[in-house]
Amino acid sequence: MNDHALRIYDSILGLLCNADNPTPLVRLNRVLPFRDTQVYAKLEWYNPFGAVKDRVAANLIADGEKRETVHAGQKLVEPTSGNTGMGLAMIANAKGYSLTTPLSSEIPLEKRTMLRFFGAEVLELEDTLCPAPGAPEGAIAKAMEIADRPEFHMLNQYANEANPEAHYKTTGPEIWRQTQGRVTHFVAGLGTCGTITGTGRFLKEQSSAVQVLGAHPAEGHDIPGVRSLRQLQQTQLFRPDEYDQLAEVQNQAAFELSLRLNREESITAGPSSAMALAGAFEMVPDEPGNIVVVIFPDSSFKYASSVVKYLPGLVAANSAGGTSRNALLDRMVENVRANGDLIIDVDAAHDAWQEHRPFVLDVRPTDQYQEAHIPGAINMPLEELGGDLSALPGDLGAPILSVCQRGNASLSGVLFLKSLGYRNVRSMTGGTLAWREKGFATDSE
Ligand SMILES: Cc1ncc(COP(=O)(O)O)c(C=O)c1O
Repeated sequence: MNDHALRIYDSILGLLCNADNPTPLVRLNRVLPFRDTQVYAKLEWYNPFGAVKDRVAANLIADGEKRETVHAGQKLVEPTSGNTGMGLAMIANAKGYSLTTPLSSEIPLEKRTMLRFFGAEVLELEDTLCPAPGAPEGAIAKAMEIADRPEFHMLNQYANEANPEAHYKTTGPEIWRQTQGRVTHFVAGLGTCGTITGTGRFLKEQSSAVQVLGAHPAEGHDIPGVRSLRQLQQTQLFRPDEYDQLAEVQNQAAFELSLRLNREESITAGPSSAMALAGAFEMVPDEPGNIVVVIFPDSSFKYASSVVKYLPGLVAANSAGGTSRNALLDRMVENVRANGDLIIDVDAAHDAWQEHRPFVLDVRPTDQYQEAHIPGAINMPLEELGGDLSALPGDLGAPILSVCQRGNASLSGVLFLKSLGYRNVRSMTGGTLAWREKGFATDSE
């Protein structure tokens, strides 16, 4: 028997949240720009596996079981930015299923490691931070390919109505009950949009006066779990007609507010929580009677490797400066990205390629190379660089174009080639995806 009053449970799954066992609502007191408006943070890391996505993972699986698409011993596959995967992995462990999760290698190391620690099979791909549904490459395409095998089933959090339904059934009723129906504004960050769509629907059904507000990051952001307006167009659960307002939040502003929440409110909020709060500051007026509830999806603990990038002074000088080899390598790669002599945009690269056919080094995994590559490119996957180098030009002055999928891994390619003494090396910004988008020639094999 599960007893929420005594907090005693038959299994960890009994801790999954609902109106009888809500995640906490905590009032913010110090970081607010308001005099009258009250703001409450809903702390979703009090879910059993650490994030808002536990609700979704539980409902996606329950829905699959009800529809009999998920059976005993089921192999699940799901592209995820981390939190859904963590919830799914743990519920799969509890229920005797398994999880394979293709994801972007740009997702924080903490999440990729913990997914493996929890027992998921993690396939790391060179993809953007949030997988883009419908895009030909990346985590979603990989998951769909695996899901074609009869023994696998993909729950598809980007299109499955069981995602918003999880919030309609739990998050919405919790907020309504916790505020005794006094909530006036509901604010959530936008990722798959399950949270805003499902919770918003429930709250508007209780009172059409409740304002449903969405916060999203700016283009080129680095906030795990949420999507810019462009990335949102590809999420089938993004229903802007059902929201009252949207606000864009700058990357740096979100990281800085996250620091303040931790230091001034003693709330261990991660960057996407702060982004949602920053959006609330923009959208909600300061008026007596306003009661705002903001979803705080997960805590700061998973984001050490993200926060050190945006908040100076968090890494001891010696580890940033020299003793930490990885930090140094990261810095060198970023130096390449910032050095106009070492990068080239895709149009200029195409002109150069047509003019004098530089040596093209493609550092992507072989399957991506085989699907489509610049004609004549030589494939040496990043992980294998340093092995057989006989295919590289003998002349250290030869022009070399380093390419990958999106123009990130190719920066490491430049670094490597430079370390061998090649003098005329550039990384192609935007990668093969940009080359293909322009309609430039490719070969496949
Ligand atoms: C950390 C974090 N913040 C925000 C969100 C956005 O929630 P939703 O996908 O329901 O829009 C997610 C979803 O993955 C997340 O992991």
